[in-house]
Amino acid sequence: MRAHLGQTQRYAHTVRVARLADRLAQAHALDPSRARLAGMLHDLARLYSAERLVAECEARGLPIDAFERRYPIVLHARLGAELARESFGIEDAAILSAIRRHTLAAPGMSQLDAIVYLADGLEPGRPFAERGRLEALAFHDLDGAMPALLRSSIAYLRGRGLEAAPLTLAALATYERRERSSLSA
Ligand SMILES: [Fe+2]
Ligand SMILES: [Fe+2]
Repeated sequence: MRAHLGQTQRYAHTVRVARLADRLAQAHALDPSRARLAGMLHDLARLYSAERLVAECEARGLPIDAFERRYPIVLHARLGAELARESFGIEDAAILSAIRRHTLAAPGMSQLDAIVYLADGLEPGRPFAERGRLEALAFHDLDGAMPALLRSSIAYLRGRGLEAAPLTLAALATYERRERSSLSA
């Protein structure tokens, strides 16, 4: 991993994500080794240039949508899952899904998907005001922490004049529907 990433800072982030994913999995009675592995491999393509991301996705026949054309950096998640399979021999569909969904999220996230998304956004190297509170929430309520982090990420993007992906908005809508139905139940 270290050799593949070729950058100390990104490697340190990767290890923090893997450790937090492991601890979150333990807290939610999921397999910590799969969470750790997904965390270790989630950013394999994170340092690729926009041109390389597009070229490598096209070379593999992966479709690229309009949002991904505008923000090719997000392709590192989908391409990363392909690299995890090709270069690290990962065939576990749940791990590949968590890698694929770690950046934009998606409707219908599994618990492992959510753990890797939360670990990536909430690892202790991320300096934002709500981090500690959201991390604590993630340890006792994945379905509560997910929409909270999605809302925080969307607000952060909009604050910088960037758009949130349709997939991210759809993910949030799914969690918010779930929140409303659990409130009314
Ligand atoms: Fe990433
Ligand atoms: Fe990451």
